[in-house]
Amino acid sequence: MAKLELKNLHVALEDGTPIVKGVDLTIASGEVHAIMGPNGSGKSTLAYAIAGHPAYEITEGQIVLDGVDITEAGADERAQAGLFLAFQYPHAIPGVTVTNFLRQAINAVRKARNGGVDNPMPVPEFRKAFLAKMDDLKVSRELASRYLNDGFSGGEKKRVEILQMAMLEPKIAVLDETDSGLDIDALKVVAEGVQQLVGPNMGALVITHYQRILNYIKPDFVHVFVDGRIVEQGGSELAEKLEVSGYEEWEVKEEVHA
Ligand SMILES: Nc1ncnc2c1ncn2[C@@H]1O[C@H](COP(=O)(O)OP(=O)(O)OP(=O)(O)O)[C@@H](O)[C@H]1O
Ligand SMILES: [Mg+2]
Repeated sequence: MAKLELKNLHVALEDGTPIVKGVDLTIASGEVHAIMGPNGSGKSTLAYAIAGHPAYEITEGQIVLDGVDITEAGADERAQAGLFLAFQYPHAIPGVTVTNFLRQAINAVRKARNGGVDNPMPVPEFRKAFLAKMDDLKVSRELASRYLNDGFSGGEKKRVEILQMAMLEPKIAVLDETDSGLDIDALKVVAEGVQQLVGPNMGALVITHYQRILNYIKPDFVHVFVDGRIVEQGGSELAEKLEVSGYEEWEVKEEVHA
């Protein structure tokens, strides 16, 4: 049973501009949470801050994973502790194949969990698990020997991200979706992957600004995110309401208060 707690989280850009302005959120294994909000509201900033990206500064509040405060931990430590972030815009790594990238990532986690002593997964074991997960997630075997994200289509990037998630077995996965770049097949891949993996060992936070992906992933909780804050919470019905009415209700309120 894993639990990620965001406590009064505030995040600023390097120049000090506040973007995330006090988020309280708890995600436990077995749960799918969706964060929905308009462009520029700070969703990706929140995701980066959770993952420990050095360009985003946590100015107030805490991030706690399974009771351990990781607010100050580096990105690699967080990954080793069981956090996974699927980026909105994944980077290409020319020269590093998908297979090698994954093997290194897994071995880094294994090393950290082994008190800093190398404990690489034996190659046959890695290969077996890798092939099985590729088949489960319908990732073409041809992608495995290509350089990571180099020339990949949007859908292929998503498949490989989900494959990374399946191999790394995180406790909490944060998926920052760029829905606009995804066709229905890619949406289904992400959704099925998340659905397969969420359970006693994993919870997920899915970030989106359209309800579309939520036709395929049923969120247990929906959080409406406007101007760096959660302004409303509900169940999956809230996502359907947003699809019809948009975010205007809250954005107007912001102006009235200002
Ligand atoms: N590295 C950065 N440098 C400068 N400004 C940034 C940086 N990261 C985020 N911002 C700014 O912070 C604000 C929030 O951006 P963010 O990417 O978190 O929004 P978002 O909710 O993810 O939007 P979208 O739905 O378009 O993905 C925007 O005004 C953006 O320009
Ligand atoms: Mg974003």
